[in-house]
Amino acid sequence: MAAAWFGLRGACATALAVSTLFILHAFLDWPGNYMEQANQVGELAGFWVAGVIPGWLFDRQQSLLQEIANANEETLLGLVSALDLREHNTRLHSQRVREYTELIGSRFGVDEKTRREIGFGALLHDVGKIAVPDSILLKPDKLTDAEWQEMLKHPEAGYRIIKRIGFLKNAAEMVRAHHERYDGNGYPRGLKGDQIPLGARLFMVADTYDALTSERPYRSPVTYEVAAEIIGKDDCQFDPAAVATFLAIAPEELQMIAERYLDADLPN
Ligand SMILES: [Fe+2]
Repeated sequence: MAAAWFGLRGACATALAVSTLFILHAFLDWPGNYMEQANQVGELAGFWVAGVIPGWLFDRQQSLLQEIANANEETLLGLVSALDLREHNTRLHSQRVREYTELIGSRFGVDEKTRREIGFGALLHDVGKIAVPDSILLKPDKLTDAEWQEMLKHPEAGYRIIKRIGFLKNAAEMVRAHHERYDGNGYPRGLKGDQIPLGARLFMVADTYDALTSERPYRSPVTYEVAAEIIGKDDCQFDPAAVATFLAIAPEELQMIAERYLDADLPN
């Protein structure tokens, strides 16, 4: 039990405590019989083996799980960085939006696993833009109708890229739905209301907040108050429950996330 709860240290501490009691008992109740004494020592040794080996295995398992989680995280950041090489600053935007979405998700009451999954979906939301040609993605001028049709394919492309990765299954659905709108006028499938995965509904609020409060080549960022007013008034694009959860978050908490990525010179 100690091994499962506290790992190797817990197992050793428990074995030590029991051994001390055992030795005390052996001295106070000396049997005067060497065979009996040998049995007691054998029992004590068996207790250590039975306690310490599961403790070590538990610690080992925990550290392997952590290594897998770190490797997954690095792989995802690698995917986002690949996109960032073409369309600069998308990684900082994606990382900020991930944090905003996870924050809204935790205040919305989602469990830890779901919070992590919607974080993955937010981080990878535009990964499908890898499939959009440079001539369209980086075009400084207005896109033609045909070019827009090409650009509108990126949610489905992103879905296809990550849907086969087991731990990204739910995130893939979120990537596919990240341009849907609560009123049903979004794309690619025109989903409406609760048909849109919860993660995507929370993401839409986070993404819009980040877009409004970040520096863009064509306009200056707006304040929290202005962004909150714009989001609060929009009952077409957003889930009202997601908006209410977002508006209940203290502006300072959102500001702390934004500041973490200010002038960030993160390695690609
Ligand atoms: Fe997108």
